[in-house]
Amino acid sequence: MKETPHISWIISDVQQFSSDELFDLIVVAEVLYYVGDLVQIRAAVRNLVGLLAPGGQLVFGSARDANCERWGHAAGAETTIAMLNESLTEIECIECRGASINEDCLLALFRKPISAS
Ligand SMILES: C[S@@+](CC[C@H](N)C(=O)[O-])C[C@H]1O[C@@H](n2cnc3c(N)ncnc32)[C@H](O)[C@@H]1O
Repeated sequence: MKETPHISWIISDVQQFSSDELFDLIVVAEVLYYVGDLVQIRAAVRNLVGLLAPGGQLVFGSARDANCERWGHAAGAETTIAMLNESLTEIECIECRGASINEDCLLALFRKPISAS
């Protein structure tokens, strides 16, 4: 994109993407519940955690478990946040609610410990 020459845009699968670079910031919003079952969600979480630099931050957003399950997905915000908490430190989590039942999400900020692998 002309207006953001310092940014490289990559289109990839969250489970497949790999890089020699580590990233200071990863944003993954309303994506992980699409990847499949709990094993696949966990694999995607593990991949993203591996791409994050020590001290780097990850912003995660998702509809809550109840809505995701109603829509036919294996898991939503609460379950995936618990997976992220296995490797990362949760800094903040806020609720995002709209007018309809479908607009009920959590937005969480995580940091990777400096000592984590
Ligand atoms: C509901 S949209 C969210 C878009 C945007 N992140 C946002 O918050 O507005 C879901 C997005 O997840 C993407 N997606 C689904 N499965 C994916 C996967 N395995 N890897 C990467 N992206 C995926 C879809 O292409 C789609 O753009």
